[in-house]
Amino acid sequence: MSGKNKLINLPVIKGMRTTLTTLQKMVDNNEKFTVLTCYDAIFAKILENAGVDVLLVGDSLGNVLQGHSTTLSVSMDDMIYHTRCVAQGSSKALIIADMPFGSYQISPQQAFDNAARLLAAGAQMVKIEGGNIMSETVHFLTQRGIPVCAHIGLTPQSIHQLGGYKLQGSTDKTAKQLLDDAKHLEKAGAAMMVMEVIPARLAKKITHALQIPTIGIGAGAGCSAQVLVLHDALGLYHLKKPRFVKDFMAGAGSIQEAVGHYVSAVKTGQFPAQEHEF
Ligand code: KIV
Repeated sequence: MSGKNKLINLPVIKGMRTTLTTLQKMVDNNEKFTVLTCYDAIFAKILENAGVDVLLVGDSLGNVLQGHSTTLSVSMDDMIYHTRCVAQGSSKALIIADMPFGSYQISPQQAFDNAARLLAAGAQMVKIEGGNIMSETVHFLTQRGIPVCAHIGLTPQSIHQLGGYKLQGSTDKTAKQLLDDAKHLEKAGAAMMVMEVIPARLAKKITHALQIPTIGIGAGAGCSAQVLVLHDALGLYHLKKPRFVKDFMAGAGSIQEAVGHYVSAVKTGQFPAQEHEF
């Protein structure tokens, strides 16, 4: 066989990572996808073996790993380290990395510099908190090849402005504001939208108004996908158990089995149930 033919005879690459296209197709086919936060290699392997589609390296690591009461002290170095660990342990799931507080709010250029470091560490997408004010940054990043997941509703990095971890969008005015924010962010190029702790009815309305997948946490079953903080899903609460959380470890024989229960509960629409909604 000539050298040229050998090159053509490439082996089939198996086990490619989930892509945004795959997830969008699932949503277009009315199939829900699953997200869990993840901060290290061993959990990355367990979670994707249990069928989790997306691993979110969340800045919630400031709470559950570092023991802080907010996410505000999480640094870019922390996020890069944990993104590397997750990328090292996984081969199938799409990895989203949170941009920590102070790493993207100054300017789109600052956001690009830091987002590029997260992609170099192994993320396929970055997540930024905030409404329409972030549209310019979302546009800047997406035009330059960096996929962005937006995050609206309860945005923990704004905790001091919000006055606590509480329900957002509960009045007509704030609900309209969130719907408008979501539309602006989608138009700016966001490819996914996390919606945290908002009324289930509003989350469903926003999901119907958008083409891109919505990922709910405390936002009811009407979203395209669900996310939980891993420790919460395993019954390890850094504060008290939030209403929207279910302990999937209860009755499970192993962590992988518990995560498998989460995956099937989300895919079959059993989680979140009404008791987890607002
Ligand atoms: O940091 C995180 O874990 C998050 C989820 C709560 C969505 O942003």
